[in-house]
Amino acid sequence: EKPIGIIGAMEEEIALFLKEMEQERTEEHAGISFYIGRLVDRSVVICRSGVGKVNAAVCTQVLIDRFQIEAVIFTGVAGALDPELEIGDIVVSSSCQQHDVDVTPLGLDKGVIPFQETSEFPADPTWIQLAEKAASAWTEGRAITGKVLSGDQFIADQETVRQLREQLNGVCVEMEGAAVAHVCHLNDVPFVVIRSMSDRADHSADVNFQEFAAVAARRSNGIVKDMLAQK
Ligand code: ADE
Repeated sequence: EKPIGIIGAMEEEIALFLKEMEQERTEEHAGISFYIGRLVDRSVVICRSGVGKVNAAVCTQVLIDRFQIEAVIFTGVAGALDPELEIGDIVVSSSCQQHDVDVTPLGLDKGVIPFQETSEFPADPTWIQLAEKAASAWTEGRAITGKVLSGDQFIADQETVRQLREQLNGVCVEMEGAAVAHVCHLNDVPFVVIRSMSDRADHSADVNFQEFAAVAARRSNGIVKDMLAQK
């Protein structure tokens, strides 16, 4: 049985998983600790990537090369872009795109990487379905499936939110998902990103973000465990 790779960007986001897993061993690669063991009767490798696209990309490639994972699940918090989304709602990735890629002076659309057949990386349909089912059971609010935007920026102003929605049609914004997605695409490995909305990426984003971390961590933990149990 190939293990499932589970990534969170921050310590809080993986702490519950580490507490609950049957840990067999740990390995360190590229400064990242990988916790190998079992969770709800599945073989898993759990890790904290660190924040941002490069950290997430390196972490994902190590999971693929060293642990031959079957799929990657990335969980954490995000800023809501879709006005229908409330803090606490959940987004499952239909696809991910890097919003901070900008080659517009050469005539490309925002977010388009030159010389590549695609810049919007689709998540795996089977894992999307598992995530949707688990997510709706874990929130009183709504769980939607949509495009997740990622960039090396914490977004905290409404004008940027408007642009990200208009130019790239994202439903939420974070800092790792599209890097994980891009690496998974290059290696032909299935992935899904599951994000709890911690803020609205506006002037209150910093405060909301801090407050919401613990609630979001518990919810993500529940969703991922349900998914593993169903797979
Ligand atoms: N993660 C959570 N909220 C975010 C925001 N507003 N911008 C980027 N990443 C986030």
